[in-house]
Amino acid sequence: MSVRNLIDLNQLSLEELDDIVDMACRISRHPSHYSSACRDKLMATLFYEPSTRTQMSFQSAMLRVGGKIIGFDNPNGTSIAKGESLKDTVTVLSGYTDILTIRHPLEGAAMAASLYSGVPVINAGDGGHLHPTQTLTDIVTLRNVVGHMDKLVIGMCGDLANGRTVHSLCRSMSRYGGNSFVFISTEKLAMPQYIKDYITEMGCEYTEVRTLEEAMPYLDVLYMTRIQRERFDSMEEYEAQKGIYVLDSKKMALGKTDLCVLHPLPRVDEIAYEVDDDPRAWYFKQTQYGMYGRMALITKMISEHGSSEPVRREGTPGFTCRNPKCITRFEPYLPHLTVDTPKGCVCGYCEHGVEAEAE
Ligand code: NCD
Repeated sequence: MSVRNLIDLNQLSLEELDDIVDMACRISRHPSHYSSACRDKLMATLFYEPSTRTQMSFQSAMLRVGGKIIGFDNPNGTSIAKGESLKDTVTVLSGYTDILTIRHPLEGAAMAASLYSGVPVINAGDGGHLHPTQTLTDIVTLRNVVGHMDKLVIGMCGDLANGRTVHSLCRSMSRYGGNSFVFISTEKLAMPQYIKDYITEMGCEYTEVRTLEEAMPYLDVLYMTRIQRERFDSMEEYEAQKGIYVLDSKKMALGKTDLCVLHPLPRVDEIAYEVDDDPRAWYFKQTQYGMYGRMALITKMISEHGSSEPVRREGTPGFTCRNPKCITRFEPYLPHLTVDTPKGCVCGYCEHGVEAEAE
């Protein structure tokens, strides 16, 4: 693997990604062959935001490759409650361990953590931005269930505005030839423009529709998502959006016989329980593929990138990120990293536009 930290899955070449997926498939067939791949290695899980699957999937993955784990999932029980910065927490924990996984409510937090960590950092979700290991989970599942990653019509339904899983998945699936996307959402929860632009730049097509019914007959994959209550500014705005999309047996009847239904989970009400028994519902099996994907990823990152001093990055002073949910708004010591893109200069943490600071 060419990269030391995994912030965005697209940091990997398609060959590197395929290599990890291949390894995950081998692990799923012979897990015992890998049971001491990370013996004596220690992983810290820094979960600043609630999680069941991702946290336990990382933990069980590390234990199954023979490693050990420490971590927190309630920052109120740590020095963070006393006002400790992300930089200090990461600096200390990277001195104790061999790899860090971090989930944080602010966008760009994993990138920020990687600047101060002496060991590899994996992004386990940074606000509404990205969730690369969920996408790895989705890709391992597609490889096993559908058998190929190209020429697919991929439907995504629900909270496409705030769902980091669909943002990461669009980015990765548009790298494979001939895929097209159908976005099924309300106007308010539509896919962000920067993701749609990325899809177009990659030569893929997308359409946007308002109902599941009109999309169902055309889809090879349907990726359902929950409305992300915690990312709304008010309860009223959430209430206005919830319950609009529910996949039930009647809608499943409109789908292809080999449709593959995925969901990152947790489910709230967007898939009726009756769908669970449909052979096209793969979302529970998907969680298990995620564990194999993480076993492969952790093993590769630990074996190919040990601990070393963090690389200092010089920022370009004079810019502020326009995104109110960006980590740079809350951790003022962070260097102002910017990236030049065809669409202009964007924040090096969360990819939103930046503006020049007033003199
Ligand atoms: C997702 C997440 O945290 O973004 N869940 C997960 O990682 N399995 C999806 C969600 O919370 O809706």
